[in-house]
Amino acid sequence: MKDPKKQYASLLLKWNQKSNKRIMPWKGEKDPYLIWLSEIILQQTRVEQGMPYFLNFKKNYPTVAKLALAKEDEVMKLWQGLGYYSRARNLHETAKNIQANYKGRFPETFIELKKLKGVGDYTASAIASFAFGEKKAVVDGNVIRVLARVFGIETAFDTTTGKKQFATLAEELIDEKEPGNYNQAIMDFGATVCTPKNPDCNNCPFNSFCIGFTKNRIDELPVRGKKIEIKERYFNYLVIKSSSQILIQKRTASDIWKNLYQLPVLETSKPLTKNFHADIAAFLGNKQFVITSYSKATVQMLTHRKIHFRFIDIEMKDFKKFSFKGTQKIKISDLNKFAFPKTIHLYLNEKFLF
Ligand code: ADE
Repeated sequence: MKDPKKQYASLLLKWNQKSNKRIMPWKGEKDPYLIWLSEIILQQTRVEQGMPYFLNFKKNYPTVAKLALAKEDEVMKLWQGLGYYSRARNLHETAKNIQANYKGRFPETFIELKKLKGVGDYTASAIASFAFGEKKAVVDGNVIRVLARVFGIETAFDTTTGKKQFATLAEELIDEKEPGNYNQAIMDFGATVCTPKNPDCNNCPFNSFCIGFTKNRIDELPVRGKKIEIKERYFNYLVIKSSSQILIQKRTASDIWKNLYQLPVLETSKPLTKNFHADIAAFLGNKQFVITSYSKATVQMLTHRKIHFRFIDIEMKDFKKFSFKGTQKIKISDLNKFAFPKTIHLYLNEKFLF
């Protein structure tokens, strides 16, 4: 049999032409700005979830110049609900940088693209190959899964050795003439045929030599090295309001949800215990309030964290005079102007119907 590595790119491109039915608004796009935008949105995000955000950003900021001129709060508001908010901050910062230092034009090579904040190997390869036809292979979760199975790579992909091995193999395999099409095709193939669970091996162009399939090892590949350690955090949000106003604050520390808004939060390393009035009084430096109700705890899983949320309704004795460091009073009717993490947004939305 011919060397599988030699057949691989042409089989993939043939599959792409004949069987790839995936339609996405960024496919075939040549504008580096729109490619960058789509790839940043799609990092850690499913295509179905990212698509409306991409279309909305494209509509509001059709050019890098428009994005550079936007206010940060406005960008965060459009990003609300997508998670990994540093992507949005970097996106905005990089747009401003391109306007100020690159005369509004995107750099055109992998090496130059990588100098931009928030642009790593993956995004630089995507922009360089899709927009400028540079032969640089993308390596993301889809690509790793396909290569590990087809070529039987057993090195853990999240180790230094593994990362190098997958990157080298990907560069070896990429099609010389159509690097952009090849990169898009392998991502689509991983997402639609060589899926994490129940891959469609019967309709796979590599099934005659795929190690995963022929040796019945699909479920063992790819191999992960490190166990993900999950940290638990308890966010107890305080709903402090009058009939028309509510206290909110901007998260400014370098932590999750930086630059998004929230309710004043008492963070604890364990669930609150019974007498949490005292904990809240100590936190606020004020005892003149009653707790009128509190929600059940809900949980949100992030990549490395498990977050427990609780919302606590507080009636301040003198709301007018009460102030708290770092917070601002806003009209309840203005809540929809601020970007909140998803769980807070859903809670406030339900409570105040905005
Ligand atoms: N995930 C990340 N980038 C993608 C792309 N260009 N097409 C499909 N899925 C993707």
